[in-house]
Amino acid sequence: MGKIEGIKIQNYGVLKNIVLGKTRTKQSEKALGNLIAIIGPSGSGKSTLADAFGFIADCLEIGVEAACDANNRGGFERLISQGATEPVSFEMYYRESSNTRPITYELEIDLDKTGRPYVKSERLRQRVGQYGWPRSFMYLQEGSGYAFEGNDDGGQNDDGSIIGKKVDVQLSDLRRPGIVTLGAMKQYNRIEKFLDFLRSWYLCYFSPDAARRIQTAAPQAYLDRIGSNINNVAQYMYRENKREFEKILQEIQSKLPGIEKIEPQKFENGQMMLRFYEKDFKEPFYSQRMSDGALKLFAYYLLLHEKNPRQLVFIEEPENGLYHHYLGELAEEMKREVGSGFSKQLFITTHSPFFVNALGPDDVWVLMKDMKGYSTIKRASEFHFVKELAEEGVSVGDMWYSKYFESLED
Ligand SMILES: Nc1ncnc2c1ncn2[C@@H]1O[C@H](COP(=O)(O)OP(=O)(O)O)[C@@H](O)[C@H]1O
Ligand SMILES: [Mg+2]
Repeated sequence: MGKIEGIKIQNYGVLKNIVLGKTRTKQSEKALGNLIAIIGPSGSGKSTLADAFGFIADCLEIGVEAACDANNRGGFERLISQGATEPVSFEMYYRESSNTRPITYELEIDLDKTGRPYVKSERLRQRVGQYGWPRSFMYLQEGSGYAFEGNDDGGQNDDGSIIGKKVDVQLSDLRRPGIVTLGAMKQYNRIEKFLDFLRSWYLCYFSPDAARRIQTAAPQAYLDRIGSNINNVAQYMYRENKREFEKILQEIQSKLPGIEKIEPQKFENGQMMLRFYEKDFKEPFYSQRMSDGALKLFAYYLLLHEKNPRQLVFIEEPENGLYHHYLGELAEEMKREVGSGFSKQLFITTHSPFFVNALGPDDVWVLMKDMKGYSTIKRASEFHFVKELAEEGVSVGDMWYSKYFESLED
């Protein structure tokens, strides 16, 4: 469980300095909701934002040096904002549930003396009490510093005084974030939990072609990044809870255009395939033959119904390959599924006013380039005309389509 109430990104490509939601230093801002849509013209930084999340996830998985090269990032020199003199840095404001105190995670990545990317500094803080000042429970600079054991209030105050059990830490591998090393140890409870949260992120790069590949028989709990195991996930759901899975299928089939029924079929070798019955045809189709749009919608609905949902999901432009009329419904479904708790948060970049029309002005963020060519971001609700128009019943997508969000001035 957990979600990000705010994030600050600095010097990551076109994102020289942006903040979404509430952070440690911006306490008066409204926290991010559970469904966040990011809109903006081409080149405004939407994909860069999605990739920033992917980059953080990659840093944990493969280390910062490899992460700089992964996913066509082209190395540190390419991905750091042009003209930046400070490190690439991230600050996340995280909360596990409504009755836990927020945690701030800061991560700075820079080049070392030999020109290789490394973790320059890393810090975890947690607020004390309801309005207290945060205490650092992990602070590493150039790989050395301290961490606090346990799951309580322990940490170091800004004046240097400490509560709890402080342990000196010296990391041997500066390419790997300290939270990965320390989070693997039971005594660093809080770090472990936070790391679990980061590791549960899902960055979706769904590719219908990948989803059409013949898949092995093994059931798998989670859809992979490109959706190449869509049948395995369906198989898993079928195995775990047949009744529930059939309910999901019924729900999905009612949303897929022209599809009358979806049925799992088990083969002797243990493999399961899905049969899609289309309206005008007697014989079913298998998922290999389904249209891009139908496969995509199917993948999204499966994703929304995961048994132990991944806590943060980022989807880029879900509208690609989908008929625009399904988008409103998809957005509604997403809104319903993420709910208002701490179990799931969904970030979406989109060009579709139909999708955005289903959302409120607090959940839509507008990215734009400033005079210097870097991105700026603003909540739709912060544009002065929005409240008035919303009261008149105009939807956010329609405002956008009518070019209301073209200038930063408001
Ligand atoms: N290192 C960098 N510093 C500054 N801007 C960059 C850097 N790398 C790429 N860009 C710019 O970032 C933009 C890429 O934006 P992108 O995230 O793909 O936008 P969108 O997905 O909204 O179309 C391009 O305009 C590109 O010129
Ligand atoms: Mg893009």
